Amino acid sequence: MQLSVIGCGYLGAVHAASMASLGHRVVGLDVDEARIAMLSAGETPFYEPGLDEILKAGLASGNLSFSTDYADAADADVHFVGVGTPQRKDAQGADLTYVDAAITSLLPHLRPGVLIAGKSTVPVGTAERLAEIVKPTGAHLAWNPEFLREGFAVKDTVDPDRLVYGVADDTRDEDVAILDSVYASILERETPRLITGYATAELVKVSANAFLATKISFINAMAEIAEVTGADVTQLADAIGHDVRIGRKFLNAGVGFGGGCLPKDIRAFAARAEELGKGESVAFLKEVDEINLRRRQRIVDLVVDSFDGQPFGRRVAVLGLAFKPDSDDIRDSPALDVAVRLKGLGADVVSYDPEAMKTAQRAHPQLAYAESLDAALEGAEAVAILTEWKQFRQLDAAETAAKVARPVIFDGRNILDPADWRAAGWTYTGMGR
Ligand code: UGA
Repeated sequence: MQLSVIGCGYLGAVHAASMASLGHRVVGLDVDEARIAMLSAGETPFYEPGLDEILKAGLASGNLSFSTDYADAADADVHFVGVGTPQRKDAQGADLTYVDAAITSLLPHLRPGVLIAGKSTVPVGTAERLAEIVKPTGAHLAWNPEFLREGFAVKDTVDPDRLVYGVADDTRDEDVAILDSVYASILERETPRLITGYATAELVKVSANAFLATKISFINAMAEIAEVTGADVTQLADAIGHDVRIGRKFLNAGVGFGGGCLPKDIRAFAARAEELGKGESVAFLKEVDEINLRRRQRIVDLVVDSFDGQPFGRRVAVLGLAFKPDSDDIRDSPALDVAVRLKGLGADVVSYDPEAMKTAQRAHPQLAYAESLDAALEGAEAVAILTEWKQFRQLDAAETAAKVARPVIFDGRNILDPADWRAAGWTYTGMGR
């Protein structure tokens, strides 16, 4: 099929390249000329495993192209909208400027019967509003949320655990048939497909993220209790996780969640619920947010305490800057936030991340960035692991002790074996263990 993908950020660029890899002819559109030039040259604007290969293959096959001109999308049968919906600068709600602009720019190029499939995460009610704007053109609108995780984005796009089509009642059969054609190869594997109305589809997305955020904050709340009782939150998570109704995934306590989705989505959801007069229904999300943010300060306090409250000029190696491993994304990253807070307190912070050094440097040029993991460790008087990269998980306690000035480690992601590290002479502190 002929597809367009509006917005070539994490979601859109991955979607465009993935759809081309499924055999569709795809044009990716973005207003950012530099980004389009990069993608057209086969360069990925961010680190995402597997994207490079399908981007290059798509361009080489002629199935994939990129443009800043909406006229190049005019032949598409389906227009996917994958632009960002960041948190508003002045409030907790979502900023819909980019979604609105995408629809407005598409309007002159729409033909009767083509489908716009929204993928961006939007406040419930958005699709209904946009459908009214699109109606006079004879084009249809569906909401088809995306559940990809960074670091697994390509796999999650071509092999999702479910597909959700939010469609209008009056064009339901036609629109479902179009989306089924787009995802034919995915549906062949009997991937669950749910057909809903607009509001349900929009809510599926935000409630999934709200649930995941709540799960993480739940275990971090248990970490807070573990810290004052001598319990071990990792053992606790293992034990409750054996109950299949609870499940072990997303029960890793640490410095909490960050990224371009979970934090802003729970805030936008709470703001939208307020508008709907149902703020109390998701009031707990404010608590979820607060528990999450407290964990960042907790590790800062632990580091400062290790210097008897005097961190000024003390060397701290911060390992990890990305909000999660296998990503160079630093949006609302707990790791970067902790590095900045420690630096703000006068500590001599030296950071290292396998992929996110460039993105972090652009956002925070005032921080010091080590060229290698070893360089970050050299002379450190405290080490804080803040992103669970494999490289950090595999650190050898004895070898690492030989590199630092003072063997004091803060395991902000609970990825090390405390007994091993203590046996090698380290003062080990995890989060809630
Ligand atoms: C999240 C959702 O997991 C995806 O399903 C969703 O599609 C996506 O947002 C989105 O809305 O686009 P992502 O932001 O890539 O995906 O990151 P997650 O894997 O959810 O991790 C979020 C944060 O939670 C990370 O900072 C991670 O370190 C943290 N986390 C995760 C924990 O602190 N503990 C855990 O047990 C799991």
